[in-house]
Amino acid sequence: MRSHAPVSLAATVAACLMILAPAAQAADADAAQALARQNNCFRCHGVDKAKDGPAWKEVAAKYKGKAEAQQKLFIHLTTGEKAKFADEHEEEHKIIKSPDAAKTKNLIDWILSL
Ligand code: HEC
Repeated sequence: MRSHAPVSLAATVAACLMILAPAAQAADADAAQALARQNNCFRCHGVDKAKDGPAWKEVAAKYKGKAEAQQKLFIHLTTGEKAKFADEHEEEHKIIKSPDAAKTKNLIDWILSL
């Protein structure tokens, strides 16, 4: 009987991870893209194609595993930080118009999940 203990522990951990994983990245992709469209984000960003700004998949790759990603991007999207364009000129990044911070955070979660 003792030999079963590690197996069931592993199974329990796996089950917990399966429950937790979707919750941790429960970004609503439709809502995220709707907000991005309303804000004309796609004028300068593609999901997997760089335009004036980087492709969002590149952004996701850059921030992969970085705990501060969500917070950094929230500041990026709400404070008009300087943004460097493809042609090297700099201007303030567009400040997102969003009905509430949760919607902005959802968009950020979605971008980071790409
Ligand atoms: C006028 C063009 C333009 C528009 C519109 C625009 N962006 Fe950007 N964005 C840029 C540029 C240029 C950069 C690169 C900034 C840098 O690396 O300095 C950037 C960078 C980003 C990044 C990466 C920031 C980082 O820390 O690496 C994210 C995420 C982003 N934009 C999201 C958005 C969202 C969401 C919207 C819509 C609300 C949006 N952008 C609208 C030009 C734009």
